[in-house]
Order: sequence, then structure tokens, then C-alpha cells
Amino acid sequence: MNAYRSIFAVGTAQERVENFETYFAFSTRHSGELIEADKDLVRKREKLKWFQDNPVRSNKPLANPDVFYRNYVEMHDDPKAMDKRTLLLTCVYKFARHEWVGITGAWDATPPIAKARTLEDKISRYHLAEEFCHVRLFHEMFRTMQLDKVEWVPLGPVMQAVYRTFPYFPGWMMDAPAFVTELMGIVFYRHLDGVLDEYFADEPEARDRMRALLREITVDEVAHAGQRRNFIGPMGTVFAKIIVRPLFKAFFKDIAGSELIFDIEQMIKDAQDFDYSMIESDMMDQSWVPSYCRS
Ligand SMILES: [Fe+2]
Ligand SMILES: [Fe+2]
Repeated sequence: MNAYRSIFAVGTAQERVENFETYFAFSTRHSGELIEADKDLVRKREKLKWFQDNPVRSNKPLANPDVFYRNYVEMHDDPKAMDKRTLLLTCVYKFARHEWVGITGAWDATPPIAKARTLEDKISRYHLAEEFCHVRLFHEMFRTMQLDKVEWVPLGPVMQAVYRTFPYFPGWMMDAPAFVTELMGIVFYRHLDGVLDEYFADEPEARDRMRALLREITVDEVAHAGQRRNFIGPMGTVFAKIIVRPLFKAFFKDIAGSELIFDIEQMIKDAQDFDYSMIESDMMDQSWVPSYCRS
């Protein structure tokens, strides 16, 4: 049984240098070689292909897929009046879309691996490629629900500009929010995993496939949170904990109807209290943790 300290535990400067090294060794082993032209990774591609070659499709997909397609990019209907399973899937799309827009902007701002000067640059490039793989796994989740027409739609011009400039912000400004958004990913995926049984009880095979895809993503996100955590020193760690609540509030306010499916207050609490014992040991065995978050 592994014991962990809070994810807000502080490491020394030397520990952080060493952790970047062990993280990058983990990342290349876990994801395989980077395929720059495709924003893809060899081992991730193999895993996705396995899911695609062994498809599971929902027997009873949504009662009315048009309601999903009308509301998945922008909410037009009243979420309270919407079938809950449909609403849940619109929330998943909206969450994943934010990831997709963020990484699309950041990819263009990050040097390719061949031109990376520092270990941190290499880590960032790998990290982004892993995020593109997440979007592909999300896409497979929608196909599992027989939603084959999902498209990845860019945000409006203002928000796109915000995301595009984000990677150019100095580290002291962007490291804490970048860490908290990864932490938000873990917490959201754990809560999503927690509601799958309730909403897909009559579809055990499709539910299990959704869960398998989600866990594939979560293992990476657990490692990402630790990696982004490793960019932050003592002051930034205090700042990160302070911004958990406002960031979660703002983010989920933007995902219409999310409060009808998810307990936002509990998600905030889970993030503030997070340590790695909240993740099942089979996922932890495949992931990575900063040394100073172990006890
Ligand atoms: Fe992700
Ligand atoms: Fe991530």
C-alpha cells in the first residue's frame, strides 16, 4: 500500500530537477515515440487502434440524438428539461473541447521536439501530443454512444485569442493555473467515472467501454498533474490552492447544465484535498507521481 502526501506538498529545487528527469523517462516509456506530423505518439496510437478495431456500440443510443447535436457545442435548450444522459454527454464534449482548443493554440507556440532546447520544452511537447490523443479517445467515447457526427469546433475568436496567448505568459503567471486545470481534469474524470453506472445502467457493455477509454485518459492526466505541479515552487503552490475554487467555478459555469449532473462543490473539495490515494492503485501503477508527493 502506497502512502501519499497532498498534491500541494512542496519539493526542494533539487528534487524538482530530478523529478523532471524521471517524469520524462516515464512519459517516453508510457507513450512511445512522438510522431510530430500527426501530433500523435506510437504507443498511444496502438492503444487507440485496439479500441477502434474492437468496437463496442451502445444498443440503445440516445432517444433523440438531434437534441445532443443541437446542444453539444452551444446549449440552446433548457438543460433542466433535457434527458439526463444526453445532457451528460454534452458536458463531456464541452469539457473535452476546452482541452482541444487549449492544446491546439499551445502546439503552435511550442518548439518541435527536434528543436527543443530544454528538458522542460521536450516534456511540454510530449504532454501536448498526449492531450491530442485524449481528444481521439473522447471521440471514440462518442462513437461508442453512436454519436458519429461529433465535430471538434473551435471556440469564438475572443476565447481562441486568449488560449493562443496563454503559452506566451511568463511561468510565474501561467504555471499555477496550468497545474490546476490538469488537477481539474483528474477530478472531473473521477466524478464522471462515478456517475457512469447511474446513467448507463441499461448499457453495461457501452458503459464499460466508456470507462475503459476514460481510464486511459485519466492515467495520463494523473501524471500531467504531477508534472505541472513540478513547475511550481512554494509560493506558486499556495497560489494554486487559492485559485482552485474560482477556476472550477468559472469553468463549470461555462458548461451549461453541468451542475445538474455533477456535484461541483464536491469536485472543488476533492481538488483542494487531493492526494494520490484518491486514484485506484491499478491506475497509479501505470502513472507517475512527484517524489515529494509520496510519504
Ligand atoms: Fe487531457
Ligand atoms: Fe493533461
